[in-house]
Amino acid sequence: MALARPVVFGNWKMNGSAADGEALCRALAAKAASGLEGTLGVFPPAVLLPRAGAWLDASPVLLGAQDCHGEAKGAFTGDLAAPMLVEAGAKAIIVGHSERRQYHDESDATVRGKAEAAIAAGAIAVICIGETEAEYVAGETLQRLEAQLAGSVPDLATAATVVVAYEPVWAIGTGRTPTNAEITAAHGFLREQLVARFADGADFRLLYGGSVKASNAQEILHLANVDGALVGGASLEADGFWTIYEAGLGG
Ligand code: PGA
Repeated sequence: MALARPVVFGNWKMNGSAADGEALCRALAAKAASGLEGTLGVFPPAVLLPRAGAWLDASPVLLGAQDCHGEAKGAFTGDLAAPMLVEAGAKAIIVGHSERRQYHDESDATVRGKAEAAIAAGAIAVICIGETEAEYVAGETLQRLEAQLAGSVPDLATAATVVVAYEPVWAIGTGRTPTNAEITAAHGFLREQLVARFADGADFRLLYGGSVKASNAQEILHLANVDGALVGGASLEADGFWTIYEAGLGG
């Protein structure tokens, strides 16, 4: 079964001390103590995963990891395998974030391999795609998304095992976002592609990411085919992150 809407995930990236992480997790766990209608998740740096699980306690807040290797084990110094992350408490793993694609030269094939590894380990693969600013300016957004979706999402994907995040590279950490019409067009296009390829394509969760914050969450989260958000900077503060989640409730 696909995750309950809205799906709001916080990608901490390479931020936060253990003390920061504990305060954030405990605050979110307290807010979620009486249950969650949707899905709220935190994706801390991997070294914090076991402790984050303890800080979240028995709350329904989902714990995830930011990346994994495509192999289940082996001689890959410094890398982390999906089964290790799952053992450390991760229920979902982000793969193909643009910062991995850009700074670690990850191709669609690499990302697909990582997604397969995450799914094989029992985690949900959160697969990120998105056009660069040059592609956006050239009007090539949908072409780029079509290629990345086809290349990065494995054939065995289902709505229960894969979440797709549309994150325009130029909107990440910049305070800029596409227009509502542009987000709607991109998500509608992704939905069409998923429906054409997968029997349960209509149920896949499609997240928007890139400068989502408390002040714009309400309008973005209620656009057609936007099932939630992948949030970076604004996920590092509990009240603001919770406000984004609440903005997605009700429809
Ligand atoms: P941002 O990052 O919310 O800080 O723009 C989003 C992301 O990279 O997932």
